[in-house]
Order: sequence, then structure tokens, then C-alpha cells
Amino acid sequence: METKIDVITETRIVAIGKSDPPGSIDRKLTLAGGIIRQGGLVAFPTETVYGLGGDALNSESSRKIYAAKGRPCDNPLIVHIADMTHLDRIVSGIPPKAQKLAKAFWPGPLTLIFRKSEVVPYQTTGGLDTVAVRMPSHPIANLFIRKAGGYVAAPSANLSGKPSPTLARHVVQDMMGRIDMIIDAEGVEIGLESTIVDVTGDIPVILRPGYITQRMLSGVVGETDMDVTIYDGQSTQAPRAPGMKYRHYAPRGELVIVEGEPQNVVRYINEQTALREAGGARTGVIGTQEVLSQYQASSVKNAGRRRDASMVARQLYTFLREFDDEDIAYIYAESFADSFDDSGFGQAVMNRLLKAAGHRVIHV
Ligand code: TXA
Ligand code: MG
Repeated sequence: METKIDVITETRIVAIGKSDPPGSIDRKLTLAGGIIRQGGLVAFPTETVYGLGGDALNSESSRKIYAAKGRPCDNPLIVHIADMTHLDRIVSGIPPKAQKLAKAFWPGPLTLIFRKSEVVPYQTTGGLDTVAVRMPSHPIANLFIRKAGGYVAAPSANLSGKPSPTLARHVVQDMMGRIDMIIDAEGVEIGLESTIVDVTGDIPVILRPGYITQRMLSGVVGETDMDVTIYDGQSTQAPRAPGMKYRHYAPRGELVIVEGEPQNVVRYINEQTALREAGGARTGVIGTQEVLSQYQASSVKNAGRRRDASMVARQLYTFLREFDDEDIAYIYAESFADSFDDSGFGQAVMNRLLKAAGHRVIHV
């Protein structure tokens, strides 16, 4: 399929602030929604990351999304809805467990995989007979989707091969001149993409970990499984979410995760950064607040408190983009594996960090 970039000369940036009067927000989102209805593309904030939206029921819009991202077209898009009553039209049946999960976690950072109905074009689902659906909780996303006609296909709004955007300026960096509009607003707070759960079989299967953890899902539907490729980096099986097979963003510098007792980790990282800096290279660290002042690298990023993965999740993609901008050649990250985190959200952070590190982990 064609993946040539459509030439669009002007990308409008529309800022929406908390102090905007309601009438003005409504007007801006009516305009944005109109662009989608006419087959155009608009980047918009969600509670996870920025999405790159097009009309999910228009195959030409989906084609444009792939072209704007430079994304392989066998990698399916998530359809974003704003109302539970809109689900019926795009799926062929809602299994009882899916119903329970939607009731518990929608609107929110959970994507469910259903069998698709005929109205969803194969261009949107990457040729699959299933469709990924999510109802975001971000209020601007919600109103925007309604104004756009109810069904917005949206991958993360980054160029293929870059980290997902969590700030409007990341979207501007990647998408200027490629799409019609960028909605710039606050509230992209989670910072990692939604949890994806396949509900087409008897037991729900997690295809991508996220803020909604396995523990939270099992609390609602009982037994759940996890795609083996999530926790086994050596697995030779193909991941069941096609997008998880692609090489994910890796910073230009070499990223290594260092695991062990906190003081051993700090000592090891400081030895390594001192050596590298003595050799003329710039080094970076992603470290927890408890030991942050002990690091001596050129660029030290604050990952927040050790037992709380939410801050590092929110900032991880920003850190990775910044290390490139700062010309950092060697990066060391503390581990955020489950043992360090009470919420279970650490697993999603580690999943993304391991991909960025090409699974390089050092135990000290
Ligand atoms: O939080 C999010 O999910 C963000 C925001 C914008 O909503 N979106 C996002 O989309 O992360 P994207 O395209 O970057 O990731 C979608 C993932 C890909 O790994 C894709 O392969 C998988 O969802 N996916 C989509 N449809 C699927 C399907 N029918 N079966 C299995 N996996 C699917
Ligand atoms: Mg993505």
C-alpha cells in the first residue's frame, strides 16, 4: 500500500487553556471536528499520550494517518469513542467480560479488542477482523470525538520510530506540515500508552501493559493472561498486538538499565559515568529522588519516588527525547521492576524502558 506523505503546507496549532470560556472551547473543537469529518487529520490530547486522529470509518483518512506517521500499514489503529452507546455500531457483539471491563475502566486508559463490524474499514484495522476501541477520559478528547462524528482512529502522534508525544511541542516537532491541526492542551498525565486487552476469547489477554494493571483487570473479571512477549524479551513468538513487534524508540545514546540494591546501583552508575566522561563523552542518568543528588552525570533526570512509578511514566518519553537533544552518548537508568513499585504500574514503565534499552540490563 502507498505510504507517500501527503503534502500539507499549513498545520494550525490551536491552544486550549483552563481559562478559556466554554463557548470558545466549543468553537475550537467544532472546527477540529469539522476537519475530521472532511477527511483531515488532527492531533489531540488524551490522558495517556497525544493521538493523531482521523475519521475511523473513512479508509482514506486511515491511509493518510499511516502516511503522516511513516508507519507500516499492517499496524492497526485504535478507534476512539466518546459514548458507550456508540460501541455497538463498530463491533460484532460485546462479550460479557468486555462489558464488565468497559463499565469499570471507561472512560480511561484501557483499549479493548473486539471482533469488528462491517462499517470499520480494513485500512483502519490493518487488515484484521478485530478492532481496538478505547474511550479516553480527557475532557477535550471526549468533546473532540463527539464533534468529529463519534469515531476517531488515532495512533500516538509521533513519527514512527520516535517516542509517543506527551507534550504539544513533541507533536509540533514530529507533525508540522504533515497534518491539518494540533490541539495543544494540558492533562496528558499518564505519559504511557493505554493498556490493551484482547477480549475476543474466554480469558482476557493483556497485549500491552499500561496504567490499568493486571491486578486491576483481574479484580473485575477474574483470570487474565499476559502475552508472553511482554515479559520475555527473548521470546521468538510474534506479539499479538502487531505494533509491539516493531523496533521501538531507542535513544541515540546507549541506554542500560541497572538493577540491584540502591547503593550498589548508585556506585556502579557513578563509576561508569566518571569513566565515560573522562573519555570525553556526555552521560545521562534516570534516577529516583531518594538518591538523585548522588549522581554526577552531565544530565540527571528525576524519576520521582522509588515506590511510585507514576512520575517516571509521565516523564519517560520526554527524558528520552531530551537525551538526544543534549547529545548524551551513554545513559543509565535505575530499574522500575515490580519489586520497587506498589502500584503494579512499574511493569508498564519497565516494558517501555526495556524496549528503549534493547533489553540491556546489568545486575550489580
Ligand atoms: O493510549 C493509547 O492507546 C494511545 C492514545 C492516542 O489513545 N494510542 C496508541 O496507539 O498508543 P498506537 O497506534 O501507537 O498503538 C496501538 C497499538 C499497536 O501496538 C497496535 O498493533 C495495537 O494497538 N492494536 C490495534 N488494533 C489491534 C487489534 N485489532 N489487535 C491487536 N492489536 C491491535
Ligand atoms: Mg505508538
